Amino acid sequence: MSFPRFLITHLRGQRLRVSVAVAMTFGLVATDILSAFPLKFILDKVAHHQDPTIPFAGGLLGRLDSLGGRDELLPAEVHTQMAVIVFSGAMFLVLSVLNALMTHLQLRIAASTAQNLGRRLRTTVFAHLARLPLDWHGRQRTGDLVQRITGNVADIEKLVTDGLVDLLSGILTLLGIVAVMAMLSWQFTVVSMVIAPPLFLIVVRYTLAIKAAAKRTAKAAGQVAEVASEDLTAIAEVKGFTLEEREEANFARHADRQRAAGARGGRLQSEFSPLVLILLAVGNATLITVGGWLAAGHGHRFSLGVLTVPEGAVTVGSLTVFLAYSKLLYQPMKNLSKLMNLTSSAASGAERLQEILDEIPEMIEPVRVYRGGERLRGEVTLRNVVFGYEGGEQVLRGVDLHVPAGRRVALVGLSGSGKTTLVKLIPRFFEAWAGEVLVDGVDVDDYPLDLLRDNISLVLQESVLFEGTVRENIALGRPDATDEEVAAAARKAHIHDTILGLTGGYEARVREGGKNFSGGQRQRLAIARAILRDAPILILDEPTASLDVEAEAEVMRALQTLVRGRTVLMISHRLSTLGSVDEIVVLDRGRIVEQGTYAELSRAGGAFARMLDEQNRFSAGVGRDRTGTHTVVRPAAAGETRILPVPPAWRRLIDGGPADQPLQEGAR
Ligand SMILES: Nc1ncnc2c1ncn2[C@@H]1O[C@H](COP(=O)(O)OP(=O)(O)OP(=O)(O)O)[C@@H](O)[C@H]1O
Ligand SMILES: [Mg+2]
Repeated sequence: MSFPRFLITHLRGQRLRVSVAVAMTFGLVATDILSAFPLKFILDKVAHHQDPTIPFAGGLLGRLDSLGGRDELLPAEVHTQMAVIVFSGAMFLVLSVLNALMTHLQLRIAASTAQNLGRRLRTTVFAHLARLPLDWHGRQRTGDLVQRITGNVADIEKLVTDGLVDLLSGILTLLGIVAVMAMLSWQFTVVSMVIAPPLFLIVVRYTLAIKAAAKRTAKAAGQVAEVASEDLTAIAEVKGFTLEEREEANFARHADRQRAAGARGGRLQSEFSPLVLILLAVGNATLITVGGWLAAGHGHRFSLGVLTVPEGAVTVGSLTVFLAYSKLLYQPMKNLSKLMNLTSSAASGAERLQEILDEIPEMIEPVRVYRGGERLRGEVTLRNVVFGYEGGEQVLRGVDLHVPAGRRVALVGLSGSGKTTLVKLIPRFFEAWAGEVLVDGVDVDDYPLDLLRDNISLVLQESVLFEGTVRENIALGRPDATDEEVAAAARKAHIHDTILGLTGGYEARVREGGKNFSGGQRQRLAIARAILRDAPILILDEPTASLDVEAEAEVMRALQTLVRGRTVLMISHRLSTLGSVDEIVVLDRGRIVEQGTYAELSRAGGAFARMLDEQNRFSAGVGRDRTGTHTVVRPAAAGETRILPVPPAWRRLIDGGPADQPLQEGAR
């Protein structure tokens, strides 16, 4: 979409404002042009005994003729000098007041139009971003997206506030002035225009160069912002790996590039303005000398090649008009550079916004009309599902899985085997390459997206909290929940007491992303959120990964109450947490290699039994046993109680076991 079309599209609904602003601009230019005339009237009257010719307000001047005497007037003169002087003074005042009023209106309308446009762009782009699929987001840089919503929109706003009005008034002023000057004396107009061609050349050349420099500066600034935001989000990693110096050097390199580009722009600008001033001075000097010579009378004429300015063509009054106009005339040309910069950054900003808007959002409404109920039972089926991330290899290579409604299933497997990926296909975060993902026997593509997702509660590996209060964060999926319901959910997630300990309790603020909470607290808040949401399908991606042993045991107990009567898909690395599930599914490199109850699989001698053995072996290797680091597990299917050791890598952290203990792949 071209830039003007982009503007017109997004200015829809603001036509009236825009029309008024345009009308004001016409009015402003007219008052600017006309306000050179009062002085001309007076000078021509006094110096040349010429009566002003006034198209509409002529009668008004006649009424003032009682002012002043007629003694010194020539026979052809109609109005008195005093009348002309008073009239001119009043005209100047009226024009100036009108000008001020229209300037006020115009600025106000332009600013509010720009703000409305900015808000509209921001919200449109943001809403679109939220609807773009996760795999698209995975390929973007967050800093860059944020820059588009903030910086690029601001550029467009600025153009609408300052630029467009200036552009229009510049064009109108140029046309108006040339027309009025030509009416006064077209020959003298030509003379006064001698500097126009070189001025035009300078303006065009410099504006292009300045524009290019500005573009380079903006690009460098974007990179600086990107590097800064990337490093600051990963500040803990930077410190942890003592990358400060490396990152400083990297950042300095980008900052230097921005400096160089900015400096070039500044240098060009510093040459540009003085050059224009010198040319203007040459033009004005020509006007003053030639005009003065002509206006002096005495039959003076001025010839330039074939062109001759005839005698009497320039009066003292006309000369003042020309001089006043020379300023008005070159101002728009000078503004051109600013304008071209504004326009080019706004246009490239619009392009970057349009790029986002052109991305195809997730399909919200299914192709086929959905006629089922709002609440699903929670049966999940995957049929020969093949999936990989964009540009990558297959991550799931033909997965078949059937989870009847109400069953609790654990997904285990080595890191990278595709567990998280598998569960993300159910709420349609990604679309399968081949095969089918069904919920209650209906393809997930055939559900309205919101309905499908409303039936799924998610607790992800890394839970994120939002700005707001603790209460709001828990009630995220059900904003209408009562305080009692929120507290009950928090109690079940074993976070209630912690919340009461905060200053403000449930009204305590959550800072950016939940920075002021520990990983385990965040996780338990997310679990409380899932409990409150009460969806038929619950997906837990290592919900206890960042909890200590006791908290883990508590949360697992909480989860057992939570999971009753719902379909649960729980991912876990810690086999010790799997006692209470109905079925265990073992994933290996994108395929299901084993499936059965805890008892069956541990006896079967397959992949699961091997993983279990590994964990036991490492635990035995540690040599020291502390009952406190064991979790009581009740394999539901087997109906027996068993004590499983805590994974070794973990234990090392807990009780400071041998540091050279090899890390079991997959254990955390
Ligand atoms: N957003 C992504 N873009 C590209 N590739 C991805 C993305 N997420 C995961 N992968 C790749 O898909 C594979 C499976 O990842 P997945 O997160 O499903 O593993 P996982 O079994 O959950 O592992 P873990 O136990 O470590 O969480 C990995 O090889 C990973 O590199
Ligand atoms: Mg994972």
